[in-house]
Amino acid sequence: MMNDYTNVIFEAKQFVKAIFAGDSSGHDLHHTMRVYELAKRIAVQEGADVQMVELIALLHDVDDHKISPDTSVTCDRAVGFLRSQGVAQERVDAVVRSIGQISFSKNSLPPDTLEGQCVQDADRLDALGAIGIARTFAFGGSRGRGMHDPEGTDSSTSIAHFYDKLLLLKDRMNTSAGRALAQERDAYLRGFLEEFLAEWAGER
Ligand code: ADP
Ligand code: NI
Repeated sequence: MMNDYTNVIFEAKQFVKAIFAGDSSGHDLHHTMRVYELAKRIAVQEGADVQMVELIALLHDVDDHKISPDTSVTCDRAVGFLRSQGVAQERVDAVVRSIGQISFSKNSLPPDTLEGQCVQDADRLDALGAIGIARTFAFGGSRGRGMHDPEGTDSSTSIAHFYDKLLLLKDRMNTSAGRALAQERDAYLRGFLEEFLAEWAGER
């Protein structure tokens, strides 16, 4: 057998639990664990290296600039954790490279490995559907931003974020498994938006 990372994955779960304790901005432990489960499911369907996907998913947000601005450029926390587990440098580099390729805001190109693509799809799925809607308003609230500006002058509202990002995600999925999962969540999002705007306009 090649390297088995079962124990590193176990330790990574403990590591993210400690890191995300108490976050309420939408980047919490539960987000990471949902991305982990979704990414694993996609990885199995796509025939990706499942353990690599598990490590990338668990560590994908530990150096996010919103949570850890000082370490976000070089992913110091992820690197430190993997090194402390005795993971070979080449694997550490591969995980960290993928993490850097996942963020929507930082990248216009898809991740260049199937494993990174699976995790990016999972991260995007968690921005869609009922949970995606809830995260969007939770994030907006955590920044003191408005829900909606009918004039469209305030581009920082949570509803504006639907147009800036959420509605684009369905057509940017990397894998066919991810694309299939995105359909229903995207439809739910669009139904919500229509209802929200109709209620706001007094049509309902
Ligand atoms: P990524 O890691 O792809 O850059 P973000 O960190 O920007 O994603 O987003 C984390 C969560 O917060 C997502 O659910 C996202 O949709 C939401 N979010 C990000 N920016 C905004 C915003 N300006 N207003 C409302 N929600 C946002
Ligand atoms: Ni994420």
